[in-house]
Parts: sequence; structure tokens; C-alpha cells
Amino acid sequence: MSKPKVFITRQIPQAGLDLLQDQVELEIWMQNEPPPYTILLEKVQNIDGLLCLLTDKIDQQLITNAPHLKVISQMAVGYDNIDLNFATNKGIPVGNTPGVLTEATADLTWALLMAITRRITEGQEYIKQGKWTTWQPMGLLGADFVGATLGIIGMGRIGQAVARRAKGFNLNILYTNRRRLTLNLEQELGVNYVTLEQLLKEADFISLHTPLTEETYHLISTKELKQMKKTAFLINTARGGIIDQNALLSALKEGEIAGAGLDVTEPEPLPKDHELLTLNNVIITPHIGSASYKTRSQMAIIAAQNLLVGLQGLPLPYCVNSAVYNNH
Ligand code: DGY
Repeated sequence: MSKPKVFITRQIPQAGLDLLQDQVELEIWMQNEPPPYTILLEKVQNIDGLLCLLTDKIDQQLITNAPHLKVISQMAVGYDNIDLNFATNKGIPVGNTPGVLTEATADLTWALLMAITRRITEGQEYIKQGKWTTWQPMGLLGADFVGATLGIIGMGRIGQAVARRAKGFNLNILYTNRRRLTLNLEQELGVNYVTLEQLLKEADFISLHTPLTEETYHLISTKELKQMKKTAFLINTARGGIIDQNALLSALKEGEIAGAGLDVTEPEPLPKDHELLTLNNVIITPHIGSASYKTRSQMAIIAAQNLLVGLQGLPLPYCVNSAVYNNH
């Protein structure tokens, strides 16, 4: 019997490929850049399974162009690049890779928070530019942590992992979320549930951990930035579109907030001449929240498992549109 045909839109860690190698007829896009949309349209015409990344636009046209497609397996927890409703209507399950990237993303959130508040990259630039001529009693002063307030917007797995790390810093933690956590969990994490408005007003550090949806698109815009303290820092390791970037740029330039640490931007990649990159009070990394060796291997394994199970017509271990199983 012939093996199912699978297209993988980039090279992924070997641990995932090992699971697929003997089971499917594999085509991998080997280039560093994602396949252009027109090529992706061609590639999907005869495939049974697609293993894709957040850089691939999986829209109506693409799904329609893939009449044999049985499963879309995304190697990421977020899936805002996929037209989920359309996939569901077509009866195609969509898989993602939750859980395994929680800790790595929470680590990077803290790395950005520490780096921007304690002016790490600014300090390095200072040395490189030969400005370090003596120890400065008033130079490169940054924020204090003990007793400060951390505000977490979106208290899913990653938000909670960020909160757990905050304990060691003796921070007060506020959070807002679509659904309130149980009192037990709130107690365990040491977090207090507040409205978005209260969080914006009271937090010294604000970290975003919501998915990008119609409701969260530009959740943080001019009004919200004005509600924040002038001394506050904003961290985003979720999705660029959650922040209105033009509003953020003005707020940073005009001192409405103190600084920002961004692992995600809109668009991605951010053009190298973007004005945000000229500001001292911003640190930007190229969407590396999950970029640790173990995490990326685990993501590849889950994506491969989702794919194989989907090809057999069985329910995916991690499915983001389980309604698909009710409809068909
Ligand atoms: C995700 O998985 O959605 C992250 O943004 C990338 O790992």
C-alpha cells in the first residue's frame, strides 16, 4: 500500500522527522525561509498531511487547494495563521503543540523583563562605545523588583509559569483572564484577580500571555498605554498583534511608559530599519520564546505524532478544533 504524502514546510528537529521517516512519503522544504505562498499552494495539491509553522498562511484558498488533506499539524502552540473555522468546516483536524514550550517561554519572558528593567543591552552598548571610563554612582540605574507589582494578562499555562518564577522576586502579582482561576490555584500562585483597567494602572511590569484572536487584536493600544504608569515596562512573548505597535512607539518615545521587551512584533520579521529598533528603552528578540534545544525537539515530536494519528483518521492527541469530530 502506498504511504500517505506529507509536506513539511521547513526543516524541523530530527526527533520529529525520525517518527515520520518510515511511515510517510515525506517532502521537506529545505530552505531557511518559509515556502512562498504560491509554492505552498502547489505543494499541498496532492498531500494527505501538512506539518506547518506559524510563518505559513493556511487560509481558505490553501485548504481548498488540498483536496486530499486529512490533517494540519502545526509545530507551535499558537495557530492564528490558520483559518480554523474553514478547516473545521472542511472536516480537517488541526493540531498544535501545547505544554512543552511553557517553561522555555516563561524563561524568555523573565529574561526580557530583567534585561529591559536593568538595562542589560544598553550597558553592553555603553561598553562597546568606549563610554565605560569609571564606575558611575548615577549611571544606568534601573527598576527595583522586591515589592513591585507584576501584572499578567492571560493566565493560561505560560502566564502561570511566569507567576511561579515571580515568587522568588517577592513581587505582588495581579492577573486578568477571560476566566478567573480557582481560589486554590490563585492561592498556590500567590496571584490576585483584577480587571484589565486596574492591572494597567497598578502594575510596574506587565506581561502579555493571551492568544491572538479577534478579541485580543490590539488589546494594548493608546488608551491602555496611557493608563499604565510612566515607570512601567511592557513585555510581550505572545503575539505581536496584541499590541498596537504604532501606539507603543509613541508611548515609548513620549515617556508614557518606561520601556518594552518584545519577542514578537507586527509584522514579523520586523524590518531592520524600524523605528522601534532605534530606541534605547526597547529590547526586541526574533520570536525565540520556545527556542531551546529540548523544547523544539519536543514540539517536533508532538507535531509528528499529531500528524501520524490524523493520517489514520483518529482523534489528534492535541487538537484545537475538536468540533471536527462532532461534525463528521
Ligand atoms: C508558539 O508556539 O506559538 C510560539 O509562539 C512559537 O513557539
